[in-house]
Amino acid sequence: MPDLSVNFAGIKAPNPFWLASAPPTNSGYQIMKAFDAGWGGAVWKTLGIPVVNVSSRYGSVNYRDSRMMGFSNIELITDRPLKDNLKEIEEVKKYFPDHAVIVSLMVESRKEWHQIVKDAENAGADGLELNFGCPHGMCERGMGSAVGQEPEVLKTIVEWVKEVAKTPVIVKLTPNISDITEPGQAAKQGGGDAISLINTIQSIVGVDIDNFVPYPYVDGKSTNGGYCGPAVKPIAMNMIKNCAQDPAIGLPISGIGGIENWRDAVEFMLLGAGTVQVCTAVMHYGFGIIREIIPGFESYMKEKGFNTVAEMTGKALPNTTTWENLNLDYKIIAEIHKEKCIGCQLCYIACEDGAHQAIRLSENGTRVPQIIEENCVGCNLCSLVCPVEGCIEMIRKDDGKKYETWKDRTDSGNIPTTFNDKLAGGLHHWVPEPLSALKNKR
Ligand SMILES: Cc1cc2nc3c(=O)[nH]c(=O)nc-3n(C[C@H](O)[C@H](O)[C@H](O)COP(=O)(O)O)c2cc1C
Ligand code: SF4
Ligand code: SF4
Repeated sequence: MPDLSVNFAGIKAPNPFWLASAPPTNSGYQIMKAFDAGWGGAVWKTLGIPVVNVSSRYGSVNYRDSRMMGFSNIELITDRPLKDNLKEIEEVKKYFPDHAVIVSLMVESRKEWHQIVKDAENAGADGLELNFGCPHGMCERGMGSAVGQEPEVLKTIVEWVKEVAKTPVIVKLTPNISDITEPGQAAKQGGGDAISLINTIQSIVGVDIDNFVPYPYVDGKSTNGGYCGPAVKPIAMNMIKNCAQDPAIGLPISGIGGIENWRDAVEFMLLGAGTVQVCTAVMHYGFGIIREIIPGFESYMKEKGFNTVAEMTGKALPNTTTWENLNLDYKIIAEIHKEKCIGCQLCYIACEDGAHQAIRLSENGTRVPQIIEENCVGCNLCSLVCPVEGCIEMIRKDDGKKYETWKDRTDSGNIPTTFNDKLAGGLHHWVPEPLSALKNKR
């Protein structure tokens, strides 16, 4: 049986599945319930000087049949008194001594940071997470993403925390920045023990087009919120990869952003996360999703022969490179499996209008389109729009013997350098004459 237990920067937990600091970790009641269901750790809803929240405070992007594909909030940190939270942290640790209770913190002055770090640790925190990510409300007060966007300030605050902290310090980063590795490096330089990312992305999820007010609606006004949920997963994974590949960071990473199931968790780990944190999926479906995450994750580990989470962390990083290192000689083209095709012709429209005119409608009376092999550039679009799983397969056509990258070509001076260079274009880069677009309509 694979071992799911983790030691993340010195914080031990029975498994790597943690709740992110958010409404599901607002109280001892919720965290006890979550641990009882199977979650291995929880990052307590950010503590600080309690705030006053507005209503409403959430907005959502519903895409076709999927509700909350993207989720947005204008909620701030905890609105509960510090002493109530501390008492409950103590109680949770009493019942769950082996689970990870990380306390998220956000205050302003060095004195306040010192005080709240000591309070959280005295209450039994196994680790601390510094919230430098909140992109609304708190940043206007000089905290949250206002700190995460200023690496020097971030570094100074991590140093303040490290002056008194006895438990590991995780620095939570904001994605609202052009290069995530800059605050990542600042976290390392300040003495942080780990980083976690991403916090939410600044956003407006929609506008009430009758009343001219964006969502979420607060008495005729709104403001930008923080975006999260399944829609942000690709952005989160890219940022995690960037941090994991940066030798100047070299810290354990807790991955956050759109994780809903075991497969999402695996993907984050393969890109360098040692633990994962979940918020929106729990707000949507409840703590019970852990009952599917754990067995699915364990089966995957068994199938791949991983004994520990550490063995799989970063496994996809060696295969994640820059564009200039990709093989220009690797060539695939689309092939339609006729027996699976339902004749919807979505692939034809997509390739005809949105790609490379490499699919023709059948001339033999069926609705199964035909690939024009010599025009197909192997872009994948048809296979992505095809509604039938496995109906369009991308088939390799090169013999696998040649491997030449853009970098190789640049080094050997074999790249286009003038506007009308003969070296332009890729394989099969054929284009029809403009006028032939009108021929059939005349
Ligand atoms: C309603 C709400 C409140 C949040 N509050 C906090 C918070 O207090 N502290 C914090 O560090 N992150 C907070 N977050 C951000 C989450 O911890 C997490 O980083 C983000 O939602 C991305 O994960 P997800 O896609 O699983 O939701 C909040 C998120 C939501 C949706
Ligand atoms: S999209 Fe798929 S199912 Fe539809 S016509 Fe093309 S190959 Fe057939
Ligand atoms: S892979 Fe791209 S170019 Fe080839 S048929 Fe499909 S959509 Fe057209």
